[in-house]
Amino acid sequence: MRAIGVVEFGGPEQLRAVDVPEPHPGPGEVRIRVQAAAVNPTDLGFRAGTHRERQRDAPPPHVPGMDAAGVISEVGEGAPWTIGDEVMAIVVPAARPHGGAYADQVVVPAESVVRIPAGANFASASTLPMNGLTAWLALEMLGLSTGQTLAVTGAAGAFGGYVVQLAKVAHLHVIADASEKDEPLVRNLGADELVRRGDDVADRIRALVPEGVDGVADGALLNGLVAPAIRDGGGLAVVRGWSGEPGRGIAVHQVGVVAQVRNTAALERLRQLAGDGFLTLRVARVLPASQAAEAHRMLAAGGVRPAGPRLQPLTDGNPASRCRVIRIHSGVVSTMPWRRPRRAAATALVSEPPKSRLTGPHWLGHPHPTSPAAGRRH
Ligand SMILES: NC(=O)c1ccc[n+]([C@@H]2O[C@H](COP(=O)([O-])OP(=O)(O)OC[C@H]3O[C@@H](n4cnc5c(N)ncnc54)[C@H](OP(=O)(O)O)[C@@H]3O)[C@@H](O)[C@H]2O)c1
Repeated sequence: MRAIGVVEFGGPEQLRAVDVPEPHPGPGEVRIRVQAAAVNPTDLGFRAGTHRERQRDAPPPHVPGMDAAGVISEVGEGAPWTIGDEVMAIVVPAARPHGGAYADQVVVPAESVVRIPAGANFASASTLPMNGLTAWLALEMLGLSTGQTLAVTGAAGAFGGYVVQLAKVAHLHVIADASEKDEPLVRNLGADELVRRGDDVADRIRALVPEGVDGVADGALLNGLVAPAIRDGGGLAVVRGWSGEPGRGIAVHQVGVVAQVRNTAALERLRQLAGDGFLTLRVARVLPASQAAEAHRMLAAGGVRPAGPRLQPLTDGNPASRCRVIRIHSGVVSTMPWRRPRRAAATALVSEPPKSRLTGPHWLGHPHPTSPAAGRRH
């Protein structure tokens, strides 16, 4: 089968179409025919060899991609799926013999898979599993309660945006950073207050909350720079590992999504929240697989912004290749005109979520009645 990968670690130019053996699922696994694979910052490190320690047992080519959406094409023994089901999944490339989601087919544990959200297509669905799960995990680790204050950095990004929206579902007060041009976007995501982004964002947050915020979800990797915004005894959720010690009793939570890849209940909850319009699935660009290198360059340059909704899947022009779509979803669409949340604006959406969905600080930790963990997969 075809995949996009690297034989030698390096720059974006190392990404190329490669032939790899077609994978088959083992017991408890499924194979997905990939229709869309999100391009995330971690893919850039994977391609460059940042994770080579974890990849050393796998021979090249190394195939990146932690988010897949597509169609179940083969079902391993005991896996509760049917061929043809339309699904999304989180993928750990270094844990798979054939790598990640930039491929015609990917095999994952059945627990890493849920149906695509109602109203989503494959491209938009592929934005959700990895960053949604990471945002959920950051909030779980911070453990804030209704009414407490959370600051979010990198709020315009994929992780930060999901944090903002999930935090509003949990009835937190959200202060989010934004550049001037991203202010409408971040406000539409539901942030209560905005501060201009930058290395001195802690000062601006403190100006709003002199006693300090209860927690920070740090999608912009500011680490110690943002810690002064946090009250004594608060929490800082970091997403790239940080060994600093902010002091004042502030707990540093090391967020790592890989440990959560079998958390079907959380994935299912994210699916429901997206389907109900509480999470906005944002797509910046859709590119053919043959332009994966360009996708990496664009993401590395930052500021990826949509020129407009472009959700028509594009083939890569090569009929022999079944790789369909590589998609970037960094940053930033305010509200997608082609798929608005069903209930007016995001701000209105999150102000009064149905009470039955909220169960206190562990609002996302409980299996939903229709989740697989509660006995129903479909
Ligand atoms: N540990 C885990 O398990 C895990 C899981 C998922 C993600 N992550 C990490 O989380 C981070 C965010 O991921 P993502 O997918 O959300 O990336 P993203 O979509 O590129 O979002 C990052 C956002 O931060 C903004 N930004 C960059 N520098 C900033 C600064 N100094 N101050 C404020 N904002 C700044 C970016 O703006 P511009 O676009 O204008 O540059 C962008 O909007 C990445 O480092 C990723 O590797 C970790």
